[in-house]
Amino acid sequence: MHMHKLERVWLIIGVLTLIAFLSTVGYQAFASGHAPPSDLTKIDPEKVHDTPPFDEPGLKQIGDNEYELVMVLQSFGFTPNKVEIPQGATVKFIVTSVDVVHGFEIAGTRVNMMVTPGHVNSMTYKFNEKGEYLILCNEYCGTGHHVMSAQLEVK
Ligand code: CUA
Repeated sequence: MHMHKLERVWLIIGVLTLIAFLSTVGYQAFASGHAPPSDLTKIDPEKVHDTPPFDEPGLKQIGDNEYELVMVLQSFGFTPNKVEIPQGATVKFIVTSVDVVHGFEIAGTRVNMMVTPGHVNSMTYKFNEKGEYLILCNEYCGTGHHVMSAQLEVK
């Protein structure tokens, strides 16, 4: 089969571009440990409810106005889904999912995590302002995605 010279040139450029992209993405993902975007702690998603600390989700005081909040994400809710903390509290959120990929975003803060089944993710934030904070799922996870939320009250 005869191939036009320009056709061959563009084909080669296309293949080279593809290799360049895949190498870049592959390097980011594996060599620099950027994927998946979560802690490197792994968990068996089928045994979340039996694996500490997720066997007892909830708020735990760990210091002077310092807390750990363990949350389990499941289609379509957060456990626990209502939490109260004092003003000025520093909270370490420790989260995982038992089913699909969910999001963990606290509106009005920089707390934003992707919650992937099989992985434990965490983030720490200090709540200086009183108020009602909305925790919501920002990864589309199915028919109930839009109702997946929880409440955090800082008083
Ligand atoms: Cu969970 Cu969207």
